[in-house]
Amino acid sequence: ISSTLLLDRMTATVRVTAPAKINLHLEVLGQRADGFHELAMVMQSIDLADQLDCSNSADGLIQLSCDQPGLSCGSDNLVMRAAELLRQRSGFNELGAHLHLRKRIPIGAGLAGGSSDGAAALLALNTLWGLGHSQDHLRAMACELGSDMPFCLAGGLQLCFGRGECLESVPAAAESFGVVLVKDPTVSVSTPWAYGECRRLNGDHYLSDEQAFAERRQHLRAALWLHPLRAAEPPPLRNDLQDVVAPQTASVQTALRLLQDLPGQLRTAMSGSGPSCFALFANRQDADQALDAARDRFAQAGLDAWSCSFVGHGVKLMP
Ligand code: C5P
Repeated sequence: ISSTLLLDRMTATVRVTAPAKINLHLEVLGQRADGFHELAMVMQSIDLADQLDCSNSADGLIQLSCDQPGLSCGSDNLVMRAAELLRQRSGFNELGAHLHLRKRIPIGAGLAGGSSDGAAALLALNTLWGLGHSQDHLRAMACELGSDMPFCLAGGLQLCFGRGECLESVPAAAESFGVVLVKDPTVSVSTPWAYGECRRLNGDHYLSDEQAFAERRQHLRAALWLHPLRAAEPPPLRNDLQDVVAPQTASVQTALRLLQDLPGQLRTAMSGSGPSCFALFANRQDADQALDAARDRFAQAGLDAWSCSFVGHGVKLMP
């Protein structure tokens, strides 16, 4: 399409919601030839979400601002990397946009906040600039930018294999689970560090051939707790990174202990590479009540806390 046509198809402003995720299962299968880890995961979107506002700018610049002063708005931010990649692939170097991020998902938390923001930028700017890239094209760009980004585009409940980018969607949970999520705001965990520690401590036991990987994937696909997800048989919440991160991170140990003590909690685990931890409840009301009763205890332990629900979507245009 020509740049005049593109001008016709442009929208003035676009707002996208960018939900966080939690890991209901994170199994490290082995090491891949490309240096990444081969994973078998189950991820679920939750209604703790950032918001990305975008408007066109005639100056040809892509600029990001954020309501959280600590966060870099430079070329290391996944929003900027996603915007640059999308513009480069469009071939229209003169495209510009002003982006503003309202940050609600804690940073460096294992909740894919940064990845969800990046996925939001792909969706928002594809719409704002009228580029018309298909979902498959956006997915391919998301894969290039980060292992969790394809999940953040699709969202809901998904099996995630490979580096995390190979998705198989699972029908939504039969019941609407509630979640209490906690994180020490002064602690963040580097994902490369967590995977490095995993390799150092468990590398000797890694699976090494594709057939063994395939068997583990099949085992997870067939897991009874997943068909359908329900409170009567809650997911076991395996997280292999928790076993290496928790012993070295005091706030994770405290968080897990306090969450396990909440009345009504079904299961408790760390999310992703941490340090955020969560407890599952049979419904949102149980989660709200448990959080209300324990708010002081979390505050005394220096933990921020949220209650939230599962949601069936990833990044999404807002009306
Ligand atoms: O893909 P992403 O940029 O999110 O990955 C961040 C880092 O986490 C990688 O550089 C790697 O160290 C580690 N990682 C991994 N295996 C994966 C995903 C991430 O080792 N499947």
